[in-house]
Amino acid sequence: MDALRIQGGTRLSGTLAVDGSKNAALPAMAAAIMADGPVTLHDVPTLSDIANMTKLLRELGCEVTGHGRTCTIQTTDTAATHARYEIVRTMRASICVLGPLLASRGEARVSMPGGCAIGDRPVDLHLRGLRALGAQIELDGGDIIARADRLKGATIFLGGPFGSSVLGTANVMSAAALAEGCTVIESAACEPEIAGLADLLNAMGAKIQGAGTPRIVIEGVEQLHGADYTVIPDRIVAGTLAMAIAMTNGDATLTNFPHDNLLAVLDRLDIAGVHVERENTEEVSGRCTVRVTSDRRLRPVLYTTQPYPGFPTDLQAQLMALLCLADGNSIVTERIYPDRFLHVSELTRMGATLFRSGSTVVVQGGAQLVGAPVMAGDLRGSAALVLAGLVAKGETVVQRVYHLDRGYVRLENQLNALGAGIERFELGVSDPIEVG
Ligand code: EPZ
Repeated sequence: MDALRIQGGTRLSGTLAVDGSKNAALPAMAAAIMADGPVTLHDVPTLSDIANMTKLLRELGCEVTGHGRTCTIQTTDTAATHARYEIVRTMRASICVLGPLLASRGEARVSMPGGCAIGDRPVDLHLRGLRALGAQIELDGGDIIARADRLKGATIFLGGPFGSSVLGTANVMSAAALAEGCTVIESAACEPEIAGLADLLNAMGAKIQGAGTPRIVIEGVEQLHGADYTVIPDRIVAGTLAMAIAMTNGDATLTNFPHDNLLAVLDRLDIAGVHVERENTEEVSGRCTVRVTSDRRLRPVLYTTQPYPGFPTDLQAQLMALLCLADGNSIVTERIYPDRFLHVSELTRMGATLFRSGSTVVVQGGAQLVGAPVMAGDLRGSAALVLAGLVAKGETVVQRVYHLDRGYVRLENQLNALGAGIERFELGVSDPIEVG
């Protein structure tokens, strides 16, 4: 099992391009199931989650070919409709084949994803939305079984106790693209990944308006065709890299940076004393080049995770690592996954002073982090530990790097390109694989 050995203390500098977004690529790949022709996706990050989705699509009768970051998906056999537990358990996002399979093949059997390291993750909103479109849904042997001759457009409210659901919106919007008549999704997720998915679906011949806002209107069409689409840049990777540069008191340039999709994060970073300045004032297709620098003394901030356009839960852990260095106390409140704090005890092992009460953590700033062997239990928590390792005194070893590899393309190579000292090595321990 791989681990990362990090020598702390170098300032990051240089230039790096932000990868395409995992969370945009996964539902886009699933949507390709519905097309009559080939769907070619560019800037698909080479991650283990993408490899798992490729495997799943192949089991579902799709040919998936490609080289580097381009992949082409073509449905060749529409008989298979079963997303098996063996794959769903490795990647919860497998749930996003549910809507596309149901809409294009009339049936879907998808293993019910369980909870995961970051907390309970129900799928009731996905099912509510698909039922409203006329699907018959039952549970059998741990599988969700959904059937419908042809889905029918409807007005659907997709709000839940923690806001809307990103993949729930993706499922319902994708399915409604092939439904008969008009669908209106109220309280839809507004995340940029949803707007990106709608752009792909529209390129495939769908008629979707309003994606990226809480009200999406979908005029169903009879069929969808092939398309060519470039995945949006990964706002979470972009935010992670910006924080890494700032923590090391570095000065570096990031290209393919989704500036306007990160406004809540940039707002908090600015207050903390991290400057992310556009090098080119014009953002081309949601991408621009930025220079990241920071004040020598970082300041504390308060932040609360929220659905987009609020501060993303997927950057909560990384900003907490940064605020360990600030001059004063910060308060972090997690409103999407109230228990997403697996990194807290590991940061504490590195010298951070953190007090957790329920879904809130007080970060006492001014820590001198010290290297230690650490092990996060989820993807973004692992990234926070790598960031902490960059500024810790001495050597940090981050174990269970398979979590990190789900969402960052060889993060150590990216940071080393900016001057970090990180080495990947094999640690000889057997460890059960957990998923998120
Ligand atoms: C997506 O998960 C992301 N995954 C997650 O990224 C991200 O943390 C999350 O959105 C929130 O932004 C992918 O895009 C592949 P949700 P998703 O349904 O869609 C509750 C990462 O690190 N809820 O929007 O599964 C749920 O419990 C990952 O890359 C219901 O109550 O998340 C949570 O509190 C981890 N009922 C909130 O809504 C439902 O039916 C948001 O979850 C569905 C969700």
